[in-house]
Amino acid sequence: MMAVVVLGSINMDLTTYVPRLPAPGETLFGSAFITVPGGKGFNQAVAAGRLGAPTQFIGRIGDDAFGKGVLELVADEPVDISGISVDSNVGTGLAVISVDEAAENAIIVISGANMAHDSREVARTRKTLQSAKVLLLQMESPLETSLAAATVARELGATVIFDPAPAKPLPPEAYQLAQVMTPNELETEVLVGFRPTNQAEAAKAADILLERGVDTAVIKLGAQGVYYQSATESGFVEPFTVNAIDTVAAGDAFNGGLAVALAEERPLPEAIRWGAAAGALATTKPGASSAMPTRTELESLLKK
Ligand code: RIB
Repeated sequence: MMAVVVLGSINMDLTTYVPRLPAPGETLFGSAFITVPGGKGFNQAVAAGRLGAPTQFIGRIGDDAFGKGVLELVADEPVDISGISVDSNVGTGLAVISVDEAAENAIIVISGANMAHDSREVARTRKTLQSAKVLLLQMESPLETSLAAATVARELGATVIFDPAPAKPLPPEAYQLAQVMTPNELETEVLVGFRPTNQAEAAKAADILLERGVDTAVIKLGAQGVYYQSATESGFVEPFTVNAIDTVAAGDAFNGGLAVALAEERPLPEAIRWGAAAGALATTKPGASSAMPTRTELESLLKK
């Protein structure tokens, strides 16, 4: 029995740590380099699994050295990876990442196998969703596939959390299928046409998302906190104070935390706090899936 199903991307992340992000044409010396499994989809699955939800990840890798490396590195994660298939026609997804001394990051993604998802991933999602409560989707795999999976989830009564990252304008059915949509401020701008910088502006953006059919809009305002709004409730969650060293995948941890709390049927304000706490914890460790917090770490931060 699964509680959370994640359909999405899995990458090998090639991450450099640099004093600052390079300017065009500039050569910089970095201080460290790591390779860790990433991809917004896989990071969210690891977050959900480490936070205690039986979780299956569905995705695709290439038949290459990066794919083999990813599979070896993810074997110990508390995530069912039987839904990862190997595609001999495309390469494994890659992300080339720089993280600066202020913990900010810049990411270039080469999608490879992630953009080859088709009806086979949807069929696998259908099979696992028979017993699951939440489906998590992002935008690093084909939108068509994600929307087909969301349709299946709605038919089966699962909650669809749609993380519109990396953002691009969405068709009307995306808003109608997403019960929960979780853009950050930059993604919100792509969706609604302005960048919210405070709670009042986040509320305006949330109104637009709700008008388009989303049940619950969750607008992440980075270091300022998180605004959420549904037809019956709204509120703001203040950020947790942590020592951030690497912000890669903080948004993924947020979605994983939110998904687990909703799968456990926790009230919305508490679920948003779970997301915010998981996101904050992810910034305290290097890397992507490697930085996802455990349940013990989350419960300890929630008590503070
Ligand atoms: O959200 C962070 C993720 O974005 C990285 O792990 C990278 O692979 C890209 O998908």
